[in-house]
Amino acid sequence: MLSTIHIGSSDVRVSPLGMGTWQWGDRSIWGFGNGYDENDAKAAFTASVDAGINLVDTAEIYGRGLSEVIVGECLRQTAQPLIVATKFAPLPTRLGPRTVNRALDGSLRRLGIKTIDLYQVHFPDPFIPTDMLMNILADAVEAGKVRSIGVSNYSADQMRNACEVLARRGLSLASNQVEYSLLHRTPEVNGVYAACRELNVTLIAYSPLGKGLLTGKYSPSNPPAGMRRWMPGYRGTTLERIVIVNRELTEIGSVHGKTPAQVALNWLARQPGVIPIPGAKNAEQARANAGAIGWNLSDDEADRLSQVTLEWRR
Ligand SMILES: NC(=O)c1ccc[n+]([C@@H]2O[C@H](COP(=O)([O-])OP(=O)(O)OC[C@H]3O[C@@H](n4cnc5c(N)ncnc54)[C@H](OP(=O)(O)O)[C@@H]3O)[C@@H](O)[C@H]2O)c1
Repeated sequence: MLSTIHIGSSDVRVSPLGMGTWQWGDRSIWGFGNGYDENDAKAAFTASVDAGINLVDTAEIYGRGLSEVIVGECLRQTAQPLIVATKFAPLPTRLGPRTVNRALDGSLRRLGIKTIDLYQVHFPDPFIPTDMLMNILADAVEAGKVRSIGVSNYSADQMRNACEVLARRGLSLASNQVEYSLLHRTPEVNGVYAACRELNVTLIAYSPLGKGLLTGKYSPSNPPAGMRRWMPGYRGTTLERIVIVNRELTEIGSVHGKTPAQVALNWLARQPGVIPIPGAKNAEQARANAGAIGWNLSDDEADRLSQVTLEWRR
């Protein structure tokens, strides 16, 4: 059994690593149905739970709801108590406060649960002012539909604003889910990680493997298939520049009997208040990701990785 930690100052306790589920149902970027399917996703879920992972992160827009449906089926097939995090997407078609409650009810239905442990706003909402949005979410907590409130892709100022509104309702902001990895160290310099520490908000790190780049399997001569190769992290000279990072990950990993991906995740998980949520397409990847915790990089090894990725600290 892995030790658990509180998300922010909420009573929700999670393992130091979660499972991301964007892959489960998403065809356009991840190629769901082509090389892996629903059974693989369910096997990834089981492998993660067997390894002691208790946090599952999904969103209503992943696979247009299919990710939540698959997670819901998995939840019904396990006796383990799990922590379910999902997200409301403030899309341009969603103009009023009522859309939040409709979205929340849709997620609860697809997941087949009565309460969402962590309900997150997927990205800052241009249509509903933060005051109003946080008050709607606070109402959802009072109605028993939500246990704790999180945001995603919020700046430090947007987090502060959300915290202030929630504090007036006697609540706190539990988490901010942002991109954070050795290849995307922006939260260290844009104030978000500092604000998380100051406000006791957990930083949930998404794309912690750089969408696969930190696994060591992609290189200029072996780019990933599908749409990913056109995404910002993969374009231009990135694949050439990460060769040196993966070399360092491999070298350090060989000392511990760990893969580059496991070393990259361990580097993240050792930062106080940070919970990485790698996405896995199958049981093998999920088992490997779980092997990223339960051991420690030395300070010197962590420093070497910080040094070799300085150009991504911007
Ligand atoms: N809040 C947001 O805006 C936001 C945005 C993005 C993601 N997220 C969340 O964060 C989660 C993780 O981020 P992500 O999915 O973008 O990227 P990631 O976790 O950095 O990378 C996941 C991909 O890496 C490869 N992989 C994973 N484990 C592996 C292993 N052990 N060995 C070899 N390859 C492995 C798989 O793809 P291949 O095998 O095809 O290479 C997998 O699909 C998502 O599932 C989602 O829950 C949130």
